[in-house]
Amino acid sequence: MPRTGIYPGTFDPITVGHMDIIKRALKVVDKLIIGVALDSGKAPVFDLKTRGKLVREDIKQLGTAASRIEVRTFSGLLVKFAEENGARLIIRGLRAVSDFEYEFQMACMNDRLNPGIETVFLTASEDTHFISSRFVKQIARLDGDISSFVSPNVAKHLKAHFRKKS
Ligand code: COA
Repeated sequence: MPRTGIYPGTFDPITVGHMDIIKRALKVVDKLIIGVALDSGKAPVFDLKTRGKLVREDIKQLGTAASRIEVRTFSGLLVKFAEENGARLIIRGLRAVSDFEYEFQMACMNDRLNPGIETVFLTASEDTHFISSRFVKQIARLDGDISSFVSPNVAKHLKAHFRKKS
């Protein structure tokens, strides 16, 4: 049976840090579903449809490996989304000690909601572990250079977004 994993997130927007985890995840699962979440407790800059579109466009960089990935948007509980998609693995990237508490809590809550689904943590690579979507957006808003944090396509969308706002 193919091993299906879900990599969930807000992806507002997708960064090279997310891409690094996606590449690593493909080494441990046969099929990867990237779940772009509506309900993440954040107030995203991009709407759900745009966030999904940007992820779809970025994964094209992966060439043939992209055929093992599906990008889906979802609302409601992550464990429900995983169940509906026949996934028993939730993949999350761990960057620093500061991520640990939040990730640990989320993994335990999800485990209580559905003990049949395991959360697997993949360590972020040392050249991307400091990246955060929040800072990328702040730098873009202040007209800084975000080219080493996101793809040219995402950079273009962020710039257009903040140009419209100013
Ligand atoms: N390298 C660099 N940066 C990374 C990274 C990596 N490998 N992985 C994540 N990040 C960054 C992101 O840029 C983002 O930065 P920000 O906090 O500045 O925005 C941050 O780490 C985390 O974002 P993301 O990976 O998109 O996840 P999230 O924490 O926003 O997602 C959900 C949370 C969607 C998984 C969670 O809210 C959820 O499951 N929602 C559904 C509802 C539900 O089931 N709730 C109950 C949960 S117990």
